[in-house]
Amino acid sequence: MLASATVDADPGPSNAPLLRALRGEPVDHIPVWFMRQAGRSLPEYRAVRERATLMEITHSPELAAEVTLQPVRRHGVDAAILFSDIVTPLEATGFDVEIRPGVGPVIAEPIRTERDLRRLRPFEPAVDAPWLAETVRLLRAELSVPLIGFAGGPFTLASYLVEGGPSKTQARAKGLMLADPVTWRALLDYLADVALASLAAQVAAGARAVQIFDSWIGSLSVGQYEDHVLPVVRRLFDGLAALGVPRIYFGLGTGHLLGPIGAVGADAVGLDWRIPLSEGSRRLPAGTALQGNLDPVAALAPLPVLEAEVAAVLAEAPGHGYVFNLGHGVAPATDPNVLTHIVELVHAHRAVPRAVER
Ligand code: CP3
Repeated sequence: MLASATVDADPGPSNAPLLRALRGEPVDHIPVWFMRQAGRSLPEYRAVRERATLMEITHSPELAAEVTLQPVRRHGVDAAILFSDIVTPLEATGFDVEIRPGVGPVIAEPIRTERDLRRLRPFEPAVDAPWLAETVRLLRAELSVPLIGFAGGPFTLASYLVEGGPSKTQARAKGLMLADPVTWRALLDYLADVALASLAAQVAAGARAVQIFDSWIGSLSVGQYEDHVLPVVRRLFDGLAALGVPRIYFGLGTGHLLGPIGAVGADAVGLDWRIPLSEGSRRLPAGTALQGNLDPVAALAPLPVLEAEVAAVLAEAPGHGYVFNLGHGVAPATDPNVLTHIVELVHAHRAVPRAVER
């Protein structure tokens, strides 16, 4: 059961392994959490979804807090991640957004031209989404591990807004970016401000770290990312620095982008499974913490195969400044007991110090 909504004045354990690892400090055990740890892999989540849609859950502090807590109770992970979606601020500012099962977010009236920018209005969490801070406050009273707040990255949200839904190639979004870079920049600047406002509200209410999910940036060339995305993401991370919590940046298929991503200013970078952690570390500035990068498909494999894959990830991991995670979200078909087993494996792991540490 949830406690009442009273705000706990205690700022919480700033020595939690997750926060220590994100700051590059030594830890007793490697912290672990899973992207999409709250969701369809859990029968207790599916039970809630039988009586409420995803948007209804996010708009209900009681339900959203309950669903956020489910994987923490079950798996013993080192972090909770707020239950919400990257598109909820768009919905809160007036977009007609539908999350279609098995598809993803679909936006009824996409942004395609400079004229369409007039439909964008600033996101004011206290007015547009009071449930956001309320959910975080409820969680803060319940949680013994840090809560990660999150927002969608500017490119990834722009891709949904311009495409009108999920896209494999982001052709329309990239088309606007190349054909009308001024409109594109205005759209991305707006979305960075949405993320800043949302995360400021989440941290003020009690989130202890933040992650920017810029999932789809891997479809950009190095030059495209540098010219049309990086300046906005850097401004976003500069703004987030004022919140005083560790800031994580995640995208899929970013191996080729890690040079420019190093200039974003993130405290930690999440990697997918395509690149070994050691190689990712070499491509990023010294002192950047790493998060990742087990292939979510490994969690569907026979146990000995999974265990070998987990060991392979841990063998590549740096001795400090490291958080275990999947390289992308938990697949809905995943057996939750396997996720609990991964947490046990990671917690039992003791790093053999490397001869040379960066
Ligand atoms: O990680 C967590 O446990 C916290 C909750 C969370 C959700 N979405 C809930 C959700 C987070 C962090 C997200 C982020 C998100 N949403 C991203 C970035 C991460 C990534 O996966 O790359 C993206 C791209 C989205 C957009 C989105 N929302 C997609 C592609 C889908 C899947 C649609 C489907 O049915 O396959 C969603 C829906 C969604 N968001 C679900 C959950 C638990 C599942 C659908 C449901 O319960 O109906």
